[in-house]
Amino acid sequence: DLPPKVRIHEVGARDGLQNEGRTVPTEVKAEFIRRLADAGLTTIEATSFVHPKWVPQLADAEQLFPLVSDLPVALPVLVPNQRGLDRALALGVRRVAVFASATESFAKANLNRTLDESLGIFEPVVERAKSQKVHVRGYVSMCFGDPWEGAVPIHQVVRVCKALMDMGCDELSLGDTIGVATPGHVLDLLSELNEEGVPTSAIGVHFHDTYGQALANTLAALQHGVTTVDASAGGLGGCPYAKSATGNLATEDLVWMLQGLGIDTGVDLGRLTATSVWMAAHLDRPSPSRTVRALSHK
Ligand code: HMG
Ligand code: MG
Repeated sequence: DLPPKVRIHEVGARDGLQNEGRTVPTEVKAEFIRRLADAGLTTIEATSFVHPKWVPQLADAEQLFPLVSDLPVALPVLVPNQRGLDRALALGVRRVAVFASATESFAKANLNRTLDESLGIFEPVVERAKSQKVHVRGYVSMCFGDPWEGAVPIHQVVRVCKALMDMGCDELSLGDTIGVATPGHVLDLLSELNEEGVPTSAIGVHFHDTYGQALANTLAALQHGVTTVDASAGGLGGCPYAKSATGNLATEDLVWMLQGLGIDTGVDLGRLTATSVWMAAHLDRPSPSRTVRALSHK
């Protein structure tokens, strides 16, 4: 059985752009987000309140957020610590995401902390956000494989997921940061999470398409009952602290599949494709999305 409706968590403006070497002007980012909203996306991750030296592309978070905050869509942002939460709350942000790792190596590379240190930093962040009725997502990176550690044991992922849920996160996003997952592995992780008390309704999936498995993995997750799927317009992305990561699942590829399955997303594929073609021109590089290519060459 497949869900009648899927909520797409659009990450192009954050996960997509954070990896771009050339700085994208703030006004272009704002127009990108406006166009995504106009195409029918209702959850659009806008930026990150991280250290500007770690992710220079998103150093304009303070300038960008007010340019889009009037949009009638959810605009979550990433916060790595209390300082990030302070910056976000000062702008009236209502949805934040903390980002943990299932592995020590990536916790160190991405947050400059051990895994347990990073969980310790998130705890008061989540508590303070929840006390202000701010929605909190908990990302878990490297849920399937890690560039330094190889295959990641499921129990290790489950431990981090449970820790984030126990802190009070409203939802999780299971990240296949380097895109090595295959559908059986996805189902094994989802089942184990359910057995350990994490309901499917609290789980989102976040696939990267390095090995061309992102749609197959998504379909497996949908069949398991997952209804929140992360995707990036045009397949933008990668991760600055995980070199082997390529782009995220392209939102257009996802919408094409969901439309074919009769699953409602509310997204206008024509407008979305036009947005990705427009963005590709700004980045001076064609979109890697097969659907964008197919629809824009008609
Ligand atoms: P650190 O160097 O250990 O920072 O970095 P610190 O805590 O030692 O503080 C050093 C200085 O940074 C201090 O300033 C702080 O105030 C300042 P000083 O006193 O020296 O003047 N600082 C900040 N400034 C602005 N905003 C902040 C902030 N925090 C501290 N929030 C830190 C630790 C977490 C800050 C750093 O490692 C960082 O910013 N990391 C972000 C990395 C990142 O954004 N990665 C990409 C997102 S994760 C991802 O893409 C995966 C995902 O898509 C899912 C998937 O695919 O798996 C989510
Ligand atoms: Mg990602």
